[in-house]
Amino acid sequence: MNPLAVELLLAINSLFPVSPNLKEIHQAKGSVDGYQAWERQELTRVAESFGPFWDFARKDVLDLGCGLGGKTVAYAQMGAASVTGLDLRSHSLRAADEENRQHNPDPAKVRFCLSDAAAMAFADASFDVIVSVNVLEHVDDLYFTLRECKRVLRPGGVMLFHFPPFYSPWGAHLEGWINFPWPHVFFSDQTLIEAARRIEEEQRRNTAYIPTAQVKWSELNRLPELNRVTAQQFAHLLDALDLRVLRQEMLPLGYHYFARSGPFHSQILGFLRKLAWTPVARELVTTKMSWVLGHPPRQQTTTP
Ligand SMILES: C[S@@+](CC[C@H](N)C(=O)[O-])C[C@H]1O[C@@H](n2cnc3c(N)ncnc32)[C@H](O)[C@@H]1O
Repeated sequence: MNPLAVELLLAINSLFPVSPNLKEIHQAKGSVDGYQAWERQELTRVAESFGPFWDFARKDVLDLGCGLGGKTVAYAQMGAASVTGLDLRSHSLRAADEENRQHNPDPAKVRFCLSDAAAMAFADASFDVIVSVNVLEHVDDLYFTLRECKRVLRPGGVMLFHFPPFYSPWGAHLEGWINFPWPHVFFSDQTLIEAARRIEEEQRRNTAYIPTAQVKWSELNRLPELNRVTAQQFAHLLDALDLRVLRQEMLPLGYHYFARSGPFHSQILGFLRKLAWTPVARELVTTKMSWVLGHPPRQQTTTP
């Protein structure tokens, strides 16, 4: 690790105020209730990007990587026949179960399951919808996870995946410690971790966060829990697994801000949207991707 690079990163960081978005996340990470509320509230934005596919009514739903369950319970309240929340952290599932008992008038519709998404114990064709928000960038083995999703999805069912590509502005997941976008494009993992460790030493962010949101910087030598998948690599995996893309949205940087403002803003948004569909540029400009996937259409049998 280069000490000069760490000093440079810290100097740049001090020039960037904490954005309102980051302040919101920082506050949410302060309590389990706050974080669950934030999980739920994020759904309004997520839903828009899936259009008509965002429909849980009378469906058997799998929430892959359900975390503290804020979203899981919301899917049940949107009319799902059943919702299964799956995660590999048992303490998250305990909080999710509590959330379900407190906030769901019909808690029996929801069950939680401790499992790695890459090796699920469900029977083939168990779910109509597999929804996963902010998870696919974290799973260790994305190929096996997607293969499992394909196996447990019913014919005619859909997968709804929403997550950032690695080189997106906040793809390093350093919010709370580093305030400027794309730090991982310019600095090595070792530099980022050392800078985050020094910021932690000074600002003690971890003491204000719930355990799932804490990061032990001094024990790391690589950015934690990230598989670094890019948009292009993800698209290749879908090809390799013969998954059909039913809809794809690349949400560019500033999307929500420009979408609600005046005519000049809509021109900027139009330009950013174009960039988000341009190879290479899309990896950097896209903040979140929304993919709707399904089984491939049945092969036509042709008679000679
Ligand atoms: C950032 S949280 C997102 C939680 C929730 N989906 C939400 O949007 O509020 C990512 C979650 O994915 C879970 N996760 C990561 N890898 C996983 C895997 N291989 N199998 C199951 N869950 C996993 C983590 O434990 C964590 O709870």
